[in-house]
Amino acid sequence: MKNKEVIINLKNVAKYYYMGDNIVKAVDGVDISIKQGEFVAVMGPSGSGKSTCMNLIGSLDIPTKGVIYLDNEDISSLSESDLAVLRGKKVGFIFQQFNLIPNLTVKENVMLPMMFQGESKQERENVAEELLVKVGLGDRMKFYPNQLSGGQQQRVAIARSLANDPEVILADEPTGNLDTKTGKKVIDFLKSLNKEGKTVIMVTHDPNLAKEHADIVYSLRDGKVERITRKNKLRI
Ligand SMILES: Nc1ncnc2c1ncn2[C@@H]1O[C@H](COP(=O)(O)OP(=O)(O)OP(=O)(O)O)[C@@H](O)[C@H]1O
Ligand SMILES: [Mg+2]
Repeated sequence: MKNKEVIINLKNVAKYYYMGDNIVKAVDGVDISIKQGEFVAVMGPSGSGKSTCMNLIGSLDIPTKGVIYLDNEDISSLSESDLAVLRGKKVGFIFQQFNLIPNLTVKENVMLPMMFQGESKQERENVAEELLVKVGLGDRMKFYPNQLSGGQQQRVAIARSLANDPEVILADEPTGNLDTKTGKKVIDFLKSLNKEGKTVIMVTHDPNLAKEHADIVYSLRDGKVERITRKNKLRI
């Protein structure tokens, strides 16, 4: 296998929340290294810090300690406005709750992330239409999210995550609200994006999903990496 570049690198990253006299150590000294094109699963019990990690990687949040490199750029020290531009371009997010905007149509939802990247309206419409066809929703462009099934809404969210052609897709329990069959379609879609070269990082509670699809599984516990399992079953 040829040498792939490290695209995401977390070095001794921590995220603490200060609640009165208590400190909640949501993430507590984590080292994660992800190479371009990898399919990564993040597992661990509820409250172990999975979503916090994803939000840090996606620069939705800033670490209390440590350094985060995204594509060789240190994002832990960028200003909020630089972060906003960066996360729009390099990272696409898919959430368990879909997080679509209810009063925008399917097409407008997919166009939204492109608003801040300077494309013309026509260009945004073209890209959104193309992506919706790609996820099999070419006939639902004018629908509103509440007129779609859960699986369809998640496919809109996938299309939206691809709007700026990001290198990395972050999916936080993307199948958590879907039945097994619909969930499988969503996973198949993520898998095909991964085959096209996208780096995919997916939080899941399902060990079978992780085992079947991921090149590498990070298991978290109490904000720390408890175990790293690679596809060839070597533990390091
Ligand atoms: N904004 C916040 N303020 C205070 N504590 C927080 C905040 N966000 C998260 N936490 C705490 O950090 C810990 C990790 O939360 P996180 O959402 O990352 O867990 P998770 O692994 O994603 O869990 P789940 O599987 O339930 O989604 C939890 O104990 C949570 O209470
Ligand atoms: Mg979570």
